[in-house]
Amino acid sequence: MIEISSLSKSYGRHKAVDQISFEVARGEIVGFLGPNGAGKSTTLRMLTGFLPPTSGAGRIAGKDIFRESLEVRKDIGYMPENVPLYTDMRVREYLRFRGALRGLAGGSLRKRLGEVMEICGLTSVRRKMIKTLSKGYRQRVGLADALIHDPDLLILDEPTNGLDPNQIRAIRELIQNLGEKHTILLSTHILSEVEMTCNKVVIIDGGKIKAADTPENLVNSMRRAGRVSIELKAHKNEVEPLIAQFDEVTRVVGESMSNGWNRFTVFAAPKTDTRLKLGQLAQEHHWPIRSLSRKSGTLEEVFVELTRKD
Ligand SMILES: Nc1ncnc2c1ncn2[C@@H]1O[C@H](COP(=O)(O)OP(=O)(O)OP(=O)(O)O)[C@@H](O)[C@H]1O
Ligand SMILES: [Mg+2]
Repeated sequence: MIEISSLSKSYGRHKAVDQISFEVARGEIVGFLGPNGAGKSTTLRMLTGFLPPTSGAGRIAGKDIFRESLEVRKDIGYMPENVPLYTDMRVREYLRFRGALRGLAGGSLRKRLGEVMEICGLTSVRRKMIKTLSKGYRQRVGLADALIHDPDLLILDEPTNGLDPNQIRAIRELIQNLGEKHTILLSTHILSEVEMTCNKVVIIDGGKIKAADTPENLVNSMRRAGRVSIELKAHKNEVEPLIAQFDEVTRVVGESMSNGWNRFTVFAAPKTDTRLKLGQLAQEHHWPIRSLSRKSGTLEEVFVELTRKD
């Protein structure tokens, strides 16, 4: 659905986006992540034809995003970072105006207006002036606007920015539902949201792609993956060296707990699971165990590892 190769954008001497390449397959929901200033919005604006790239190539649904940008825009619903709404218009009136700009008219426009207002939960506020709506409802108007021409591809730049947890959840569910019919590329800073909704993650930093994979693969490939925690009633000095001698174990950290219990955090090579060995070791030495668990990494840890500046 989206294929971009070596896409770059410079503002003067500053390379905001530096030779990035990635693909989004039809039907995928892809999270586009990166710290502030990473180049997310710049990339999304190039994809949607609002910003000419300095160099590189891109295709959306097989069409060249530069040479056929008007055609490409018909396939895309774009919700920019700051949704530019005419705040003196009423919700339905605004969406009707936007639908007309997209070439809809008469009965089909009316039908589609009803549909998008229903999908985005706007029916009850359709007669309100946009300026009287809360931020969350304005975001919904922006989303309805992006959906009005029923595009195959949705490109959403921080759709949940500035929303409260309830509204974030509502928009997330909306995006999940939309993902059944549409291909979606969305940028966000809310990583738990990405873990819940996205099949794929692209991480950008300093204008360069740092990773592109499924959330599971990213988490499993992390340096800190394979961490296991075990709580034993045994002396730290006795246990630590025995755990440390396993080949895949890189580090053991013991912490004292109450009543003679100790918790050992065992760091091991990526893609390993030391739980079985640790359980057997405890059994052999008759150490009482009260907990043995594998700590899976989080997308947040992956993000920090790939984008931190130290
Ligand atoms: N119109 C512009 N003129 C000059 N520099 C710009 C312009 N727009 C963006 N930049 C710079 O390009 C870089 C990338 O900006 P961009 O807005 O794409 O980041 P972002 O990943 O969307 O960040 P955020 O998470 O803050 O939205 C930044 O260093 C920014 O200062
Ligand atoms: Mg941005």
